[in-house]
Amino acid sequence: MATLIDGKATAQAVRAEVKEEVEKWTKEGNRAPYLAVVLIGDDPASASYVRGKAKACTEAGTRSDTLTFDSSISETETLELIDRLNSDDDVDGILVQLPLPDQIDDRKIIHALAPKKDVDGFHPVNVGKVVIGEPGFPPATPAGIMELLRRYDISTTGKRAVVLGRSNIVGKPMVNMLLQKGVDATVTVCHSRTRDIDQIAAEADLLIAAIGRAHFVTGDMVKEGAVVIDVGINRVEDATRPRGYRLVGDVDFEAAERKASYITPVPGGVGPMTIAMLLKNTVRAARMNAASLV
Ligand code: GUN
Repeated sequence: MATLIDGKATAQAVRAEVKEEVEKWTKEGNRAPYLAVVLIGDDPASASYVRGKAKACTEAGTRSDTLTFDSSISETETLELIDRLNSDDDVDGILVQLPLPDQIDDRKIIHALAPKKDVDGFHPVNVGKVVIGEPGFPPATPAGIMELLRRYDISTTGKRAVVLGRSNIVGKPMVNMLLQKGVDATVTVCHSRTRDIDQIAAEADLLIAAIGRAHFVTGDMVKEGAVVIDVGINRVEDATRPRGYRLVGDVDFEAAERKASYITPVPGGVGPMTIAMLLKNTVRAARMNAASLV
């Protein structure tokens, strides 16, 4: 039976550490790190994510404001807002909640962010830094996975890692993080057009599922003793639940846990780590901002 990787408890530990760091930082005479969150439109899921991020900021002693705008805001107005936040020295980090309404090109907004305030790690400069292994802002989900591997003392050196999914915010940065010197995994990335994906997955010592399909990874795709990390958050109908659905991962958990050495659950695995990593990035942004202002 696999050891459960408890993302909830690990995220709590990271958040407590961030809180301590912020306390120390402010005791040294610095102002609390400040994150500006931009929420456009009235998508309930985005609003809920943003509330979670704002609450986590408050608990960690950092400050945040959620700047909310009607879904009719133009791209030009949004770009002007980003400009203002970029040049405001009191703003350490900027997070623009995605997706954006159709009239606004996500890419243009991401490109407009000052890389030193891009705590999501979506700007091409930060993406590039992940590729070449320079410190920047790593995107929260793969950074959270690396943190889980470290805290559970899971060695990656020489291991065969298989990443299922090639998204810009999970699959691609994950591949690059696993490749870095010191992490030293041998990495294969699979996607919707990959042939023989089952066999490739079944060779993985470390299997990372980020494809967004409920229970895509079956028991026979998991090697005996593999470490299984499930990034998926998929809704499946469930009439027994008040909301009519439940959340499941990309992995058939019951089947995989019989073969894995370690496994993340959904919910309570990778998900809670993302907010913890966002907080870490926000504190780093504040340190960088303070250093640039002296
Ligand atoms: N929408 C879904 N996930 C994310 C995220 O990590 N950051 C932002 N900005 N928007 C999102």
